[in-house]
Amino acid sequence: MITKHLFAATITLLLLSNIAHAAGDPKVKSAMAKSDCFTCHSVNAQVVGPAYKEVAKRYHGTMAPASTIATLAEKVIKGGNGNWNKETGGSPMTAHANLSKVQATDMVKWVLAQ
Ligand code: HEC
Repeated sequence: MITKHLFAATITLLLLSNIAHAAGDPKVKSAMAKSDCFTCHSVNAQVVGPAYKEVAKRYHGTMAPASTIATLAEKVIKGGNGNWNKETGGSPMTAHANLSKVQATDMVKWVLAQ
C-alpha cells in the first residue's frame, strides 16, 4: 500500500518537474518579453519568425548539441535569414547586439525547451 502511494507520488513529482522543464525558465521568458522576441515569435504559431515549437523540433529540443546552441545564440545576436524561408517568405530576424552571449544562449535554451 505504502509502496503504491510512494510510486504514485514519485510519478506525480516527475510529471510536475517535466512540465516545469518543458516550459523553460520563467526568468528567461520575462527577459525575452522585455526584449522583442515575442513581437515576431509565438510558441505555437508562425508569426514573422517561426513558432518556437517548430524551432525546438528542428534542432532536437533539449537534446540539441552545444555547437547548435552556440550557432543559434550567435544568430539571435547577429540576426539573419535563410533557415526558415519556406515558413517566413524570406523575412530576416533583426540583430540583438545588446544581448550578451550568455543571455542569448539562455534564450535559445528556453526556445529549445518548448
Ligand atoms: C523582426 C522579427 C524578429 C524578432 C524581433 C526576433 N526574431 Fe527570431 N527569427 C525571426 C525570423 C524571421 C527567423 C527565421 C530566420 C531564418 O529564416 O533563418 C527567426 C529565427 C529564430 C531562431 C531560429 C534560428 C535558426 O537559424 O534556425 C531563433 C532561435 C530565434 N529566432 C530566437 C529569437 C529570440 C530569442 C529573439 C529575441 C531576442 C528573437 N528571435 C527575435 C524573426 C525575429
